[in-house]
Amino acid sequence: MEIIICQNEDHVGAVGAAKVAQIARRVGPGVVIGVATGGSPLSLYAHLASRVEAGTLDLSEASAFALDEYVGLPIEHPESYYSVIDRTVTKPLHLDPARVHVPNGSLEGLETAGQRYDAAIVAAGGVDVQILGIGANGHIGFNEPTSSLHSRTRVKTLTPQTRADNTRFFDSEDDVPRHCITQGIGTIMEARALVLVANGAHKADAIAAMVEGPVTSWCPASVLQMHPRATVIIDEAAAGRLQLADYYKQTYENLPEWQRLDVR
Ligand code: PGA
Repeated sequence: MEIIICQNEDHVGAVGAAKVAQIARRVGPGVVIGVATGGSPLSLYAHLASRVEAGTLDLSEASAFALDEYVGLPIEHPESYYSVIDRTVTKPLHLDPARVHVPNGSLEGLETAGQRYDAAIVAAGGVDVQILGIGANGHIGFNEPTSSLHSRTRVKTLTPQTRADNTRFFDSEDDVPRHCITQGIGTIMEARALVLVANGAHKADAIAAMVEGPVTSWCPASVLQMHPRATVIIDEAAAGRLQLADYYKQTYENLPEWQRLDVR
């Protein structure tokens, strides 16, 4: 696992965008990007959008697969992940909406929606780079603690903590859906590269558990230790409980030329 500790949230976004752009350039125009909702990747998307605007990155033929969606929330709702991805990813990055996929959280066909979503990812050739946030409880996607580390895309029940965390997007906690459909941990692990971004002291415990704790479904993100190409990009506050923080900093500062990122 590569750990990159940045001065602040904007720097996290710049480094994250550099990593995603590097992979996109290597893969070519048809790159498949896994995208996450939530506050953490917004700076990364803004930096990617700057590259698109500047003409140094073209994602017009790229495909995108979102991690998750609420169950039972109409897609027109401004907080459906369909709407959030459209607003924060598809439009700013000039993606072709026909190639942007979000799990279908409508009640009709819900039983098979997960299987169909996994099949669509396979049909697209798999995800080249998956962007991830992390919940304060260590979740990735909406894979809450005790999710199977081999799980596939399926319906899950949100924990009270996740519903409380997401109340900020709704009028009240009662309005936060109880169920979601999320890529499984096994699905996420099939992406060829993972880029996880996090900011703030409220993520420090989850980051420490993910990076330096045991691999356990109690902290679903700890499964990243098993991925051959996982990059974790965090600010100083989120790195606050890492025992080997100085080592990670020295490693990044002394990377050989060929491993360096083109951070803008
Ligand atoms: P956040 O959410 O980026 O809004 O902190 C992350 C998550 O819950 O996965």
